Amino acid sequence: MSRKVYTTAPLPFMGQKRKFLKQFRKALSDYPKDAIYIDLFGGSGLLSHTVKSHYPEATVIYNDYDNFRRRIEAIAETNVLLSKLRHLLHSYSKDKRLTEELKRSVLNLVKSHELYYGYCDYITLSSAVLFSMKYVQSYSELEKSTLYNKVRLSDYTAVGYLDELEVVSKDYSVLFNEYKDKDNVVYLVDPPYLQTDNSTYKNYWSLKDYLNVLTVLIDKKYFYFTSNKSSIIELCEWIGDQTVVENPFADATRVDMTNAPSYNSSYTDIMVFK
Ligand SMILES: C[S@@+](CC[C@H](N)C(=O)[O-])C[C@H]1O[C@@H](n2cnc3c(N)ncnc32)[C@H](O)[C@@H]1O
Repeated sequence: MSRKVYTTAPLPFMGQKRKFLKQFRKALSDYPKDAIYIDLFGGSGLLSHTVKSHYPEATVIYNDYDNFRRRIEAIAETNVLLSKLRHLLHSYSKDKRLTEELKRSVLNLVKSHELYYGYCDYITLSSAVLFSMKYVQSYSELEKSTLYNKVRLSDYTAVGYLDELEVVSKDYSVLFNEYKDKDNVVYLVDPPYLQTDNSTYKNYWSLKDYLNVLTVLIDKKYFYFTSNKSSIIELCEWIGDQTVVENPFADATRVDMTNAPSYNSSYTDIMVFK
């Protein structure tokens, strides 16, 4: 039986490389079909899935750092919750903000769902009741949100999606170190964005974390993903043009000045002197 090919992650996942798949597949054709492909920042696993469908004989390692697989395993129960929501909201207009009474009913359904199954996929639930691109991770966050009727009509399915992938879950640098001396390895490197919303990811990424990732690219075969917001390509071009790079702030003294224009936004001005 031929394998089902997914062109989008089977569950909502922010930052999935859906829009790159066509170009990614095209570029893959110049890479070996029998290599070990390591998806260091696997996210939804969409790149891993795409490599395995393109090159069935390749070894594909999906680093599921976020435990996306837990969400996939829960699809049947998530579908049960969504069908109850669909039933509750069946005569309510699509995209309309829920009344307080309906919100209470939704919250009750979610609470008993989580109690019964011991788990709730809040990210998938978010796409059913929150404004586009808004995600919560817990009941208490959901309680504080404005809810909308965004429930989709069809069930989710992920049959075969992770088939024949080697799934691991560890820090990318640990995984990289396990393979760095092996030949015929291609790295898929799609780290969290630097300046965009990382609220659905486990950790916040600083500039240093982001720059550290670049060290895995040296002398390796890779696919690297970034955005123009990070200016990383520009920075690397600049570094490449320098004959000597040194830190102009080394041994300087630093003074921080914190500003808080409003209670939930603050920034720090920095004076450095030498
Ligand atoms: C931009 S997303 C990857 C999206 C993926 N390529 C896709 O198509 O779904 C970056 C992922 O790296 C994960 N991540 C964060 N810190 C990590 C770490 N130290 N090691 C490995 N993965 C990490 C994030 O949780 C997130 O899932």
